[in-house]
Amino acid sequence: MHPAAVVLAAGLGKRMRSSLPKVLHPVGGRPMVLRVLEAVQAAVSGPVVVVVGHGGERVEQVLPPAVQVARQSRPLGTGDAVRCALEFLPEAAGPVLVVYGDTPLVRPEVLRKVLETHREGGFTATLAVAEVEDPTGLGRVLRDAHGHFHGVVEEADCTPEQRAVREVNTGLCCFEVKALRQALERLQPDNAQGEYYLTDVFRLLRESGLRVGTVRLEEVRDLMGVNSRRELAAAEAELRRRTLERLMDLGVTILDPATTYVAPEVEVGADTVLLPFTVLEAGTVVGRECTVGPGAHVRGSRIGDRVRVWWSVVEESEVGDDCRIGPYAHLRPGTRLSRRVVVGNFAELKNTTVGEDTKVQHVSYLGDATVGRGVNVGAGTVTCNFKYGHPGKYPTVIEDGAFIGSDTMLNAPVRVGAGAVTGAGSVVTKDIPPGMVAVGVPARVIRRARREEGP
Ligand code: UD1
Ligand code: CA
Repeated sequence: MHPAAVVLAAGLGKRMRSSLPKVLHPVGGRPMVLRVLEAVQAAVSGPVVVVVGHGGERVEQVLPPAVQVARQSRPLGTGDAVRCALEFLPEAAGPVLVVYGDTPLVRPEVLRKVLETHREGGFTATLAVAEVEDPTGLGRVLRDAHGHFHGVVEEADCTPEQRAVREVNTGLCCFEVKALRQALERLQPDNAQGEYYLTDVFRLLRESGLRVGTVRLEEVRDLMGVNSRRELAAAEAELRRRTLERLMDLGVTILDPATTYVAPEVEVGADTVLLPFTVLEAGTVVGRECTVGPGAHVRGSRIGDRVRVWWSVVEESEVGDDCRIGPYAHLRPGTRLSRRVVVGNFAELKNTTVGEDTKVQHVSYLGDATVGRGVNVGAGTVTCNFKYGHPGKYPTVIEDGAFIGSDTMLNAPVRVGAGAVTGAGSVVTKDIPPGMVAVGVPARVIRRARREEGP
């Protein structure tokens, strides 16, 4: 029987003090409910139901199409939330795993362990428990004199002795659907918070003579719930630690993990060195033997092998092998650099393709441009791609081996032919044929380029 899963994401998240629903707060750059769903979908082959409520429309927008959405109209408690989800599961569904949407660090292995214990023990309900140093805020696990599971009591309902218990409910649990359905019908909100507690179901099932099992988790941090901004920061730190350790195990040198921020999905090749103050955001792949940082911010980009990036920003771009970026360069979306390209001090590129061995060393703006191989783009060169009073942007083409003199303005749309040369300070308003020299304002062709004028 394929196990199903229910993810609870309808709570108010009061302790976050946020206008954003709690489960949408990002951890490792992704809304935490999506982190939970990734783990769930890796561990469970049956249907997945997400319960939304507070800020539900916003939560629904980010959910993948493969999940079903149940709506809890009022946050009456975790038991009520699960009841809303069960309407979406057939009577004959397999065991159902319940996961709280505020546990972004949960791993598929942990979910599988709970499912396995449930199946092998032949339990009607199985809950994952843990021994913690500080149980504040968590439900305490009660056992009888023989150590048999008795029930879970929420902190607000604890007696002083119960409060001292350090064995806690992690929130992760698994049920046989039919028995769960029946027990939920019998739930009462007769507790300090006036809520329907899912945790009362364990006691109800046990009292009906059904088997309730527990599985002890050593990886307590996996189920760390995020209820406040402090816990959000702690979850972020833990995920970052795991990511950096994974990379180091794969052969990446990280000089200062304390100032290196890498999204969990990022890939980095062996023998690459990440220097301090480096941020690699989702969608980034860095090759081998690169030196990234100090001060590199890379998002959604593909970086080749042996690339150097320092004190620069690279967004949604592709950087070929052996390129050098920075310091203080900005590659904006749609930049594609071939091999051995140099983009230096205060250069900005956008939606621009650059051929092999081309250099854009100093204070330039290239937008909507196609630059060939072996081009030298002089200091202060600007593609004037935006025209006063005209909508849209205009392209510039600079062909192979051209030499663009310092402070050249390329008034797009315009083309500089292969091997052509522009004089310093020229304003190019018309195409320059291959191999010719153009100078002045507006630039005029004056003669053929001499060999030694090439780059
Ligand atoms: C819950 C458990 C507690 C456990 C702890 C582990 C209950 C009653 N208590 O407490 O035993 O130790 O988790 O982290 O289950 N939610 C809804 N609808 C609601 C209420 C909550 O969907 O009406 C969702 C929340 O969005 C959240 C999850 O259920 O994702 C857990 O709710 P939360 O209020 O955070 O429970 P805790 O107080 O942390
Ligand atoms: Ca919680």
